[in-house]
Amino acid sequence: NKVWVIIPAAGVGARMQADRPKQYLPLLGKTVIEHTLDCFLSHPAVTGIVVAVSRGDPFWAELMATTLNQYSQLHTAPGGRERSDSVLNALNYLVDTLQIAPETGVLVHDAARPCLSRTDLDKLLAIGGNQTAGAILATPVRDTMKRAQVDATRISHTEDRNGLWHALTPQMANVGLLRTALAAAWEKGVVVTDEASALEHAGLHPVLVEGDARNLKITRPADLALATFFLSATP
Ligand code: C5P
Repeated sequence: NKVWVIIPAAGVGARMQADRPKQYLPLLGKTVIEHTLDCFLSHPAVTGIVVAVSRGDPFWAELMATTLNQYSQLHTAPGGRERSDSVLNALNYLVDTLQIAPETGVLVHDAARPCLSRTDLDKLLAIGGNQTAGAILATPVRDTMKRAQVDATRISHTEDRNGLWHALTPQMANVGLLRTALAAAWEKGVVVTDEASALEHAGLHPVLVEGDARNLKITRPADLALATFFLSATP
């Protein structure tokens, strides 16, 4: 079954304290986002990729004019205020401009996650392809989790980490379902930080697919060193 991919890449990455958004920082001879795209550009199940970028983003324009200009399966959609707005814009582009059928599968993957493995992508595609409620890559929580008191200085209590998971990306659903769920969340004013939360608000229960913890999101400067290590080490 063929799928589309959406890459939200319109964030500014303020926590990296760099001179450019984190998806354009150098990593092993190219940019972070080129590593992120590699896994999908080389996958036979991927029909095309929509990248949501800020209007007039000079870094994206530069890549599209040089190293990425050979890939006709790459499309660009306008980014939005929040990550979920960027994803919704890309879904609207898929449906309204490219006229993709609503039952088509779509994977949403952060531009800032360059270490996704082919193994995890295949695992998600195999499981998610049979799920109407969607599926996401996730890892079980291993640390002890503390709930802070309201003033955030002292521990209120310890959460039971059993059954708690870190949500990663890609997150998979069908185009029509995800678009309806994200649009509904937006209309109700509920903040959704990933696609699964929008589906949950619609009463669905996406499947957790255990993935590799190396599929980290570049957030702080140290993450770039980790990503360099993960991408250069043999599996
Ligand atoms: O900021 P954060 O790490 O949560 O961003 C996750 C992903 O969402 C990044 O790839 C970022 O570029 C993207 N994003 C976006 N539009 C926004 C904010 C973030 O596409 N308004």
